[in-house]
Amino acid sequence: MEHELARELNGALGDATPGLMLSAMGRRLYFPKGIIAQGAEAKQSSSLADGTLGIAVKHKTPLILSALGNQVPGMKAGEIVSYAPTAGIPALRETWAAEIGRKNPSLGKGGFSLPVVTTGLTGGVSALCDLFLDEGQTLMAANPSWDNYVLIAEARRNARMRLVDMFNEGGIDLAALGTALSDEAQKTGFVRIILNFPHNPTGYSPTVGEAAAICEIIRDIAEKGAKVLVICDDAYFGLRFEGNIEPQSLFAYLGNIHENVFAAKVDGATKEDFAWGMRCGFVTFAGKNLSAAHYDALIKKTMAVIRSTISCSSTVVQNLLQNMYSSEASLGKERAAYRDIIEGRYKKVRALVDAQKNHPHLQPMPFNSGYFMSFKCKNVDAESLRQTLLHRYGVGTIAIDERTLRVAFSGLDDDCIDAVYAAIYRAAEELAQ
Ligand SMILES: Cc1ncc(COP(=O)(O)O)c(C=O)c1O
Repeated sequence: MEHELARELNGALGDATPGLMLSAMGRRLYFPKGIIAQGAEAKQSSSLADGTLGIAVKHKTPLILSALGNQVPGMKAGEIVSYAPTAGIPALRETWAAEIGRKNPSLGKGGFSLPVVTTGLTGGVSALCDLFLDEGQTLMAANPSWDNYVLIAEARRNARMRLVDMFNEGGIDLAALGTALSDEAQKTGFVRIILNFPHNPTGYSPTVGEAAAICEIIRDIAEKGAKVLVICDDAYFGLRFEGNIEPQSLFAYLGNIHENVFAAKVDGATKEDFAWGMRCGFVTFAGKNLSAAHYDALIKKTMAVIRSTISCSSTVVQNLLQNMYSSEASLGKERAAYRDIIEGRYKKVRALVDAQKNHPHLQPMPFNSGYFMSFKCKNVDAESLRQTLLHRYGVGTIAIDERTLRVAFSGLDDDCIDAVYAAIYRAAEELAQ
């Protein structure tokens, strides 16, 4: 039986594209008017005392062990150990919304929902699959893709991944992508796809022309009647190392492209702000003609996933990040300097790989951005190559599948890049003998 609050949210979404694409779990979920909602209400109006939440206070301040509080001397106890709101600390959500708008001017003002804080981007992708992907349905993504998509979609949601060979030697194979998308649309009338740029593991981002063509393909299947959910996984946003790359997220275009297209952006501090283990990500929604009421319902559905899994994200992390965003004058400069370090590594790797263009055993997949590049292995097995590199040369890499070896050049100190790539080519040659 549908809970009354779930029915309200489902009613608010109605036959708008996200409403029609909810999973059975997505339809069931609602944000209770229980402890969290009543606690938030009390926070506004409890002038004498607040007896709502399960925390311990003295003089209205949360108790904190000094061995903990002393490690974060610039923060009050409440900023460290109190519970954060389910959807995240409002100031941080506003800051991130402003950042999304600044980086993606095509979105325009008010063209997207307020971001919801998730536990890393993983928490965001998983929440979206809980809400919009059902048993037996299909989630499309590039082949190869970040391995966690398969774990989330197939093992967790009992759905199927359809991995599309959408990279060719020169970049994006638009024909292959278009064929796969129309085929999926024709089969079921629904398309769910994750587009991740800069891409893990290839390190490729679409050029301006390719980005426009991808959007056209999606507009075309939507115009023919398919309902489309595009999850834009922007984990590595901003790390563009060639001049012709599309500067905005595809979310900026897909969020206003057609009533049948619904876009969800997953991004966060993880890679963009070099805060990998702090576990701060965001989910943001956009769709043509979606209203404030639609966005409110989508946010409440996302809060329901969060409340029923992890309850809320870390308070101290959100406050540390919000303080960083709002007070550090040197932030932009330092971030740019770190980005330049990664770009310097990209350039070094680019030169080494270009010098081996016709290598008989290792063919680089297209790369121009992000943290990674991948080799297609010809005549050698990627796992054997990985093992040889690790045990004979002391170099760690990832075997993505039988034929794909990923190298995170972002994690290679400049002075070892030559040696790492020399080892990779030498090991491949030894194995192919
Ligand atoms: C494409 C992609 N999406 C999402 C993530 C997960 O990010 P987080 O660590 O914030 O969960 C990663 C991390 O490696 C990634 O490569």
